[in-house]
Amino acid sequence: MCGIVGYTGDEQAVPIIIEGLKRLEYRGYDSAGVAVVHDSALCVTKEVGKLGALAAALEKSPSVGATGIGHTRWATHGEPSRANAHPHHDCAKSFSLIHNGIIENYLEIKEELSRAGHEFVSETDTEVVVHLIEENYSGDLLQAMLATMKRLKGAYALAVVTAHEPDTIVAARCGSPLAIGFGDGFNMIASDASAMLGRTRRVAYIDELQAARIRPDECVICDIDGAEIEPEIKEVTLSLNDIEKGDHPHFMIKEIFEQPALIRDVLARRISPTSGEVDFSEARLDELGLEHVEKILIVACGTASHAGMVGKYYIENMARLPVDADVASEFRYRNPVVDEKTLVIAISQSGETADTLAAIKEARRRGAKALSLVNVEGSSIDRESDSRIYVYAGPEIAVASTKAYTAQLLSLLLFSLYLGRKRGTLDKRRCAELVDELMSIPEKIQWTLDNHDTLKACSKTFSDAPNFLYLGRNYNYPNALEGALKLKELSYIHAEGCGAGEMKHGPIALIDDKFPVVCLAPAGRVYEKMMSNIQEIKARHGVVVAIATEGDEEIARLCEHVIYVPATDEMISPLLTVVPLQLLAYYITTIKGLDVDQPRNLAKSVTVE
Ligand code: F6R
Repeated sequence: MCGIVGYTGDEQAVPIIIEGLKRLEYRGYDSAGVAVVHDSALCVTKEVGKLGALAAALEKSPSVGATGIGHTRWATHGEPSRANAHPHHDCAKSFSLIHNGIIENYLEIKEELSRAGHEFVSETDTEVVVHLIEENYSGDLLQAMLATMKRLKGAYALAVVTAHEPDTIVAARCGSPLAIGFGDGFNMIASDASAMLGRTRRVAYIDELQAARIRPDECVICDIDGAEIEPEIKEVTLSLNDIEKGDHPHFMIKEIFEQPALIRDVLARRISPTSGEVDFSEARLDELGLEHVEKILIVACGTASHAGMVGKYYIENMARLPVDADVASEFRYRNPVVDEKTLVIAISQSGETADTLAAIKEARRRGAKALSLVNVEGSSIDRESDSRIYVYAGPEIAVASTKAYTAQLLSLLLFSLYLGRKRGTLDKRRCAELVDELMSIPEKIQWTLDNHDTLKACSKTFSDAPNFLYLGRNYNYPNALEGALKLKELSYIHAEGCGAGEMKHGPIALIDDKFPVVCLAPAGRVYEKMMSNIQEIKARHGVVVAIATEGDEEIARLCEHVIYVPATDEMISPLLTVVPLQLLAYYITTIKGLDVDQPRNLAKSVTVE
């Protein structure tokens, strides 16, 4: 939610800030703005809409200055409008501030400041912060920020510039990510390191309740009481290729096509070339005391929660431990039965999802150990966990998650094999059989990617359908939910996912001859059951799009639309059946002419509740 970039050095700040914001636009895109300090004055430009609108405005009327901050917004308080766009200013327009997060006690502060004569021009929670800085400023911006932080409740990454200190940016963090980039004669801040990549790879993260002052040749980090902290600078290894579209028309299709390579890479990291066993030594899982675990709880949101549901099936099956899979936003407000014999697994691509972060904090507070499955190293969830398994999907920029989901499924499957072997519930032969089959999955996904003419034809046929139903069973039930989520979030077509066995308990009433039902029916134990569901749909003149195993002619006799995936073990089949679901959502969305990478109302990293 919301992207932040700041630069102070000897080059023009605006092009550098816009370049950084482009890489952060996935975080929010309803408005954008920059503030630049020049000749002891602030120049602010803001536009409603995507970053392109701001870039065009700045081209028409350039802002000069070598120190500045920029923001791309995902609205929480106040509709997307110029007044609500960041940066916000104080009464005297001497300070400009940007914010990612939510200030929960803003109303109380606003009333107090209004009584003291401050005037507000936006509906945002953010505006109170810049007026507090104005109140607290007596010649030192960093001190003003520290005093301000003491008044704030909620989550924030903040950055502020002032006409009084022309080459200075002050930033602060509580609950929302913020990184500092160290350069030669310049320094930067950003919501994530990718925004600074073209400029510097030397990065340190600001920790909870810390603030930083950067100038071209100086960086001071301190805690909320002003005690200085030595930054822990790391070298970022990402390449620019990883975060650019290359020849692909959209990030989403690039990321879908990256899946074979990422699976190959994860298997190379996780399967010992000598023993053929799953190797998690890098993840230091021993620190979790796995031998004492009596119950596992998986928490996640959205797509990651669908991966969690598959993970429950994997771990129960392979390691014979009871597993609950819960959406983090519900878990945190229940009174869950969690203790020191519980292992909590948090799954998150970004590692910043506020509900998932709060859920593991709560579980740890109750004595559980936390293992995170994250894609972004150094993210808040990573740092909040006792151990971590990186899923190694690489940067995922399209708002809709695709390759990170596949990487989460793979890591969960490997973890279940590891746990099964450790607990003696999985024999070596079955484990080896599954590992062997996994080795063939990159090729099998590639086959699916290379053979999707039927899928493209289906996308054309159904792009005007107002509703879709997705059905799956057992390992493929969560994929039915995932397929429906992908379609609705991208194409705005209403779609529902349902366990196929539940269809007759309600959803069957929806079926008529205009209602497409996507049925996940790969070979396996529940294949016959899925065929019965398909018969029930056909008997009601429903239109079925089946996802089935290559060579299955029986299903082709029954359904007019069949999309094939190669044969595999049914446990592994979700890694294959999800690919046509991703492509179906992608093609339908492009046919409708909608923005695949940045669907309306969404943001990639949900750092607010
Ligand atoms: C959907 C999607 C979201 C995320 C969810 C959790 O395509 O991307 O549902 O899966 O917001 O995000 P992370 O995994 O970053 O915690």
